[in-house]
Amino acid sequence: MIDRNPVEMDLIPQIRSRWSPYEFSNRPVEAWKIKTILDAARWSANSFNEQPWRYLLATRDQPQELAKLLSCLVESNQTWAKHLPVLMISLAKKTFSRNGKPNRVAVHDVGAAAAQMTMQAEALGLHIHQMAGIEISKIRQLYQVPDDFDPVAAIAVGYPGENPDLHEDYRKKNHAPRHRKPFDEFVFTGSFGKPSEIIK
Ligand SMILES: Cc1cc2nc3c(=O)[nH]c(=O)nc-3n(C[C@H](O)[C@H](O)[C@H](O)COP(=O)(O)O)c2cc1C
Repeated sequence: MIDRNPVEMDLIPQIRSRWSPYEFSNRPVEAWKIKTILDAARWSANSFNEQPWRYLLATRDQPQELAKLLSCLVESNQTWAKHLPVLMISLAKKTFSRNGKPNRVAVHDVGAAAAQMTMQAEALGLHIHQMAGIEISKIRQLYQVPDDFDPVAAIAVGYPGENPDLHEDYRKKNHAPRHRKPFDEFVFTGSFGKPSEIIK
């Protein structure tokens, strides 16, 4: 396992190995692994078990579908993601099916499913790189997305490895140091901004 994360605590291997690479191997991803990571997303906790996530999926087996999905990313993301064998776009259902009321945490649940998918991918030797940089109106139009759904993020899936064709800018970005905020900036007790004793 490549331990790229200078974590402070004894985290599970999938969290320690996870990161968002720009460089991926050319190797295709087996269909069973794609289904497995989608199953991991499926079993995510979610509000009222609404399961608000949906996925548009394309793989290299269907080059036209993959090109269509790639065209829904902003140009900068296309530069590196064009080498990926699997792309997805997640969508969130904005209302509860049982009563039509707004689901305030739909996007939260789609994010939780993405995190769970990512951990499963790590366990299978894959990496995931998510993208907010997507073309919302183009996705709506190309895929006839119903009004009740919002595109959320793109998800690139592949094996780690070298790619001699990767644009030089992204090769550099791939090796940039990774940083995280200290605990006292995001864990509070008593009032907002007051760091908890437990994390000192
Ligand atoms: C929801 C989400 C959206 C992101 N959008 C982009 C993006 O559009 N382009 C990109 O290159 N990286 C994107 N990233 C990757 C982040 O930049 C990356 O996760 C962050 O810098 C932390 O690095 P790490 O994942 O290696 O820990 C996104 C990640 C997430 C979770």
